[in-house]
Amino acid sequence: MSKKKLHSICGGLITAVAAFWISLGSTSCGTTTKVAIVRPPEIEGATFAGNDACSDCHTPIVDVFPSSPHARFHMDDQRSIGSSGCESCHGPGSLHIKAGGGKGIFIHNPGNDSASCMECHQEIHAKFSLPNHHPVLEDLMNCVDCHDPHGRDMNKPQGGLAFARLNQSCAECHQEQARTFVFEHEAMREGCTECHDPHGSVNSKMLIQRDSNLCLKCHSQIQFPGSGDIFIGKAPHSFSMQAGSCWTAGCHTQVHGSMVDPKMRF
Ligand code: HEC
Ligand code: HEC
Ligand code: HEC
Ligand code: HEC
Ligand code: HEC
Ligand code: HEC
Ligand code: HEC
Repeated sequence: MSKKKLHSICGGLITAVAAFWISLGSTSCGTTTKVAIVRPPEIEGATFAGNDACSDCHTPIVDVFPSSPHARFHMDDQRSIGSSGCESCHGPGSLHIKAGGGKGIFIHNPGNDSASCMECHQEIHAKFSLPNHHPVLEDLMNCVDCHDPHGRDMNKPQGGLAFARLNQSCAECHQEQARTFVFEHEAMREGCTECHDPHGSVNSKMLIQRDSNLCLKCHSQIQFPGSGDIFIGKAPHSFSMQAGSCWTAGCHTQVHGSMVDPKMRF
């Protein structure tokens, strides 16, 4: 995992799971000051039973769970049993077990309400409140539309090539952008998240940058010393760069790829 990514995760988790990072001896999030306890979903009268208690009836999930990133900080000791593992997302399970299980029987399913995910991922929660976001807080979408909560690979769908994988999960709903083009934009191979923040952004269309800098991180801009002309690739861009961003200036309007033009103008 890249350092940047680790930090962004840490930022969001810092208040929620600081206790774990400290007890695990992790120093990745050096700025920990607040220590708060995670509040798993409440189920009145129920107590924590631990992961093993779920295995009789949910064997496939219990078996696959140890490979999940979420299992990395699970501890079986009584003190932290409820704030990590199955019950950190599903709530204390004693009554559910006593009743012999069942859908909606004394158990929380974050597939219907992602509030329990936000308890720990506060930075992600904040992003969904930015002006442009996927409608998760509006209850029209859920974290599990894009994430597999139990498996090794949290970015659904499982398997496949690392880069293609991310695009595939977006393609389920955005076929238009993810289809095959005659003239492909190679940026797409790196994944949709090269340009979009899937959780939310201040920029329209959830872009990670609002202007041409979005494109210039991969396409270098060269200014010739004599004439001062700006070139991108082999093409002069001095005038077009003043007309707006690479895609709003009426130039590369087909940023995802084009059926007719290698320069993705239409
Ligand atoms: C990171 C949070 C999280 C953890 C930890 C977690 N689950 Fe889940 N679980 C979910 C979500 C989210 C769903 C809804 C999945 C969906 O709707 O596709 C779910 C669904 C389920 C279901 C319903 C059936 C299904 O597959 O949709 C069962 C049963 C279940 N979990 C059991 C467990 C058990 C047992 C563990 C521990 C080994 C566990 N979960 C750990 C988040 C979690
Ligand atoms: C005695 C058997 C049994 C045990 C033990 C058990 N469950 Fe269940 N559970 C069921 C049955 C049956 C269902 C309904 C069928 C299904 O969704 O798989 C269910 C459903 C669920 C659901 C889906 C609820 C919904 O509303 O969609 C979750 C989440 C869940 N169990 C979590 C757990 C967790 C976490 C544990 C351990 C603390 C656990 N279960 C222990 C039998 C059990
Ligand atoms: C009890 C706290 C807690 C809860 C609740 C929780 N998470 Fe996490 N999550 C973590 C921690 C800690 C990590 C970092 C694990 C690691 O990388 O070692 C993490 C990592 C992740 C990652 C990154 C995985 C990767 O491959 O790097 C995703 C995605 C994620 N969580 C989604 C969810 C979703 C969706 C839910 C709700 C269904 C959820 N989390 C609920 C604590 C939590
Ligand atoms: C529209 C799809 C989508 C939805 C909905 C979504 N995520 Fe993500 N999430 C992603 C993608 C894609 C990544 C990988 C980003 C990357 O690698 O650049 C990611 C990464 C993460 C990470 C790793 C840290 C990071 O910022 O890269 C966490 C934690 C996470 N998501 C939690 C959540 C939680 C919690 C929810 C629900 C409240 C959620 N996500 C909803 C697509 C989504
Ligand atoms: C389960 C369906 C679903 C998945 C999966 C999904 N999206 Fe979306 N996406 C939506 C919905 C719904 C909207 C909101 C549309 C609206 O408000 O008109 C949206 C909006 C967007 C927008 C803004 C569109 C606009 O016109 O403002 C972008 C960009 C976007 N999604 C990118 C992504 C990316 C990148 C991924 C993969 C990480 C992804 N989506 C995965 C359903 C999905
Ligand atoms: C090279 C950067 C880049 C990549 C990679 C990228 N997008 Fe976009 N996307 C943009 C830009 C720029 C816009 C705004 C276009 C506009 O406003 O005319 C946009 C707009 C969108 C929209 C809004 C509707 C539209 O077409 O204007 C959706 C939905 C979308 N992208 C989804 C995706 C998905 C899904 C992927 C991955 C399969 C993806 N994007 C990859 C740059 C990118
Ligand atoms: C993740 C890196 C990346 C990003 C971001 C990116 N591109 Fe690209 N783009 C490439 C690569 C790689 C190629 C193929 C090699 C080349 O022609 O430079 C390419 C090719 C192109 C081409 C075709 C060039 C030619 O001469 O055939 C155009 C036009 C283009 N990109 C425009 C854009 C625009 C507009 C944006 C911003 C919305 C953008 N790119 C963002 C990586 C990127």
